[in-house]
Amino acid sequence: MDRKTIKSAVRKKYAEIAKTGPSSQGCGCSASGSCCPSAKKGNARLVDYGEAAADVVAGADLGLGCGIPTLYAGIGAGDVVLDLGSGAGVDAFLAARAVGPEGRVIGVDMTPEMIERAQKNAKKEGCENVEFRLGDIEALPVRDESVDVVISNCVINLAPDKRRVYAEIRRVLRRGGRFSISDMVTYGAVPEKIRRDMEQWAGCVAGALDRDDYLKLVDEAGFRNVNIKDFVEYDYYKGDGFGLASITLEGLKP
Ligand SMILES: C[S@@+](CC[C@H](N)C(=O)[O-])C[C@H]1O[C@@H](n2cnc3c(N)ncnc32)[C@H](O)[C@@H]1O
Repeated sequence: MDRKTIKSAVRKKYAEIAKTGPSSQGCGCSASGSCCPSAKKGNARLVDYGEAAADVVAGADLGLGCGIPTLYAGIGAGDVVLDLGSGAGVDAFLAARAVGPEGRVIGVDMTPEMIERAQKNAKKEGCENVEFRLGDIEALPVRDESVDVVISNCVINLAPDKRRVYAEIRRVLRRGGRFSISDMVTYGAVPEKIRRDMEQWAGCVAGALDRDDYLKLVDEAGFRNVNIKDFVEYDYYKGDGFGLASITLEGLKP
């Protein structure tokens, strides 16, 4: 499948979600239900931020995440944080609370409708230390070595060139900077029919890498101290001989 077709299908899907709001099914990264697994722990929604976040990010959580990367990012006051595929802004707003007035959060998303929704949320919340930029995570609109922490939630699986994304993360992080990223991965043999299904790509299934290949790619991108902080298997495809899981990884740029 060519990159252009993938990106336009992904953009179309998330533009729709940005306009209509949370999926009626309350499920992870797909409003179509194509990646609506029932988690081994928790309910059909892949992530529950809990009461603590509800008042801070009202309207910013569209139920699209597959982890809580800010939990493991060790974000401190004054940090510059970059959120890849920021959607309506839920993780960016959580990070903004952690960096405080001396810090800064940049959210990047390639879907104009998501950027618009996130910007409205920022205005509504009076969040002055967050900005949302339209851009592609394969070519980040961010300066070299200008970021302390990169976070991302259920996005990199949607990009055709994951190697390029991790090279970009390395480029924008300062030395000693780190990432905390939640993403979808697979295990077992995913049928070619699913891999080639555009709806399944936009639904965070077809583009998800095999778990071991994902870890190899991160290692080859030059990150160190890479640790799996969370791993949740979903039952959704179990009967079909392969599996889908969300993984939350941390890593350091040496
Ligand atoms: C599953 S949603 C997750 C949104 C957000 N991280 C959250 O947890 O609510 C995926 C988001 O990534 C964006 N996205 C997908 N591919 C992208 C790319 N190549 N560059 C920038 N944004 C992308 C989509 O527009 C969408 O807003």
